[in-house]
Amino acid sequence: MADDQGITPHVPQSIIEVTAFMPEARRDPHPALQALRESCPVMRDEMAKTWFLTRYGDVRETVNDRNFVRHPLNSEEGSISRQLIEDGENPRRTSILFLDEPDHSRVRPPLAKAFYTRINKMKAEIEAIVDDTINAAPTSGVFDLMAEIAVPIPVLVIARILGVDEHRLPEFRQWSEDVILSLNPVRTPEETARMESGGIALDTYFRELMEARRAIPGDDLISDMVQLQASGDAPLTDDEIMINLGALLVGGNLTTTDLIGNGVWLFLTHADQLAALKAEPSLASQAVEEVLRYEAPVSATSRILEKDRPVAGCPMKEHQVVFCSLASANRDADIFEAAGEFDITKKRASHIAFGGGPHICIGAPLARMEARRVYQKLFERYPNLTLPEQDIPWRALPFFRGIERLDVAV
Ligand code: HEM
Repeated sequence: MADDQGITPHVPQSIIEVTAFMPEARRDPHPALQALRESCPVMRDEMAKTWFLTRYGDVRETVNDRNFVRHPLNSEEGSISRQLIEDGENPRRTSILFLDEPDHSRVRPPLAKAFYTRINKMKAEIEAIVDDTINAAPTSGVFDLMAEIAVPIPVLVIARILGVDEHRLPEFRQWSEDVILSLNPVRTPEETARMESGGIALDTYFRELMEARRAIPGDDLISDMVQLQASGDAPLTDDEIMINLGALLVGGNLTTTDLIGNGVWLFLTHADQLAALKAEPSLASQAVEEVLRYEAPVSATSRILEKDRPVAGCPMKEHQVVFCSLASANRDADIFEAAGEFDITKKRASHIAFGGGPHICIGAPLARMEARRVYQKLFERYPNLTLPEQDIPWRALPFFRGIERLDVAV
């Protein structure tokens, strides 16, 4: 399909072309995703051994479909999903992220219930962490919004939710950074070593905390989980509790950081939208949804077929991987009017930035709470915040969309 100037855009032949590995897609993946959506919405990539869906309807139906599995070991040999997991000693050991039935239905509900109860109980504390972090940032000159605000907030919040001791916070922040390296499939050997030692340190610390909270319960999620376990309401092993608490760290930090960073960047490059938010701060909730739709921090999720059957109208085979582009689905013009416009004032259909179905993001309410507070407080504290001239360094992490450094002028 030709664009306004009659130029036919290049239609990607591989999923790799639309990931942050490629400099052009890292800067802006949306033209390539649009070309796929319009010319090849169900693409087979033989090199990465995956299907790639880009239309909202197909993506929504696929993520909601309970007849898929998630664990990469169910995928065909050589698939991109296999490359994303490491060959550890026990590759089946996984958090709910890749857990399949019947275990997913056993582990997720008690964890989700305890987590949501905790977030609701701690709303004021969580908002205070956001406010304090913003208030501690520089009051003049230029500073990196990511380092001062977007990176620290999610890790401080999750530490408080879990019940990390105040004096262990610096170590906890370091381990958290180290284990997040697991999201990067092209780590250096040095980074892999850091990731592994961070993971061991974190497990050891969680184990210590679980023992401590069994002896003397605290007011935190670790205490909640060991109490639910003891009462039989959470039929989880210690190892399962540990790995899933770790997943809250890995799954929640970078993603929420990016929701904050992408949002601030969008506001500072869309003066009319920033003016609308300042005029009507209660638009902050809708603004969070629009940032999630327009620049989804997680750009894709995957499912795996358990048997031969058609998906999105195409015959597919057992063990084949189906990657669903959340970033593309969120800009599908069949669903969203003026899909290519960032507009926080429009009431829109539901975006799909948190995935869907049984694996829908468990951290969505927390991410929303943090980002909403940041958008409200940041521009109140810095009414004249601007973006100095700079090349935005988008992160080179496949399937994520976020900014590494964002200089802002007070
Ligand atoms: C803007 C922030 C976030 C985004 C965009 C995001 C996105 C996602 C997506 C796309 C999935 C996969 C859903 C699917 O395949 O259908 C997911 C799963 C998950 N997320 Fe998030 N997430 C965010 C924040 C968080 C936070 C704050 C936490 C925890 C504190 C978290 C923990 C998880 C976990 C544990 C899963 C696995 C759930 C399961 O498989 O049952 N996420 N997230």
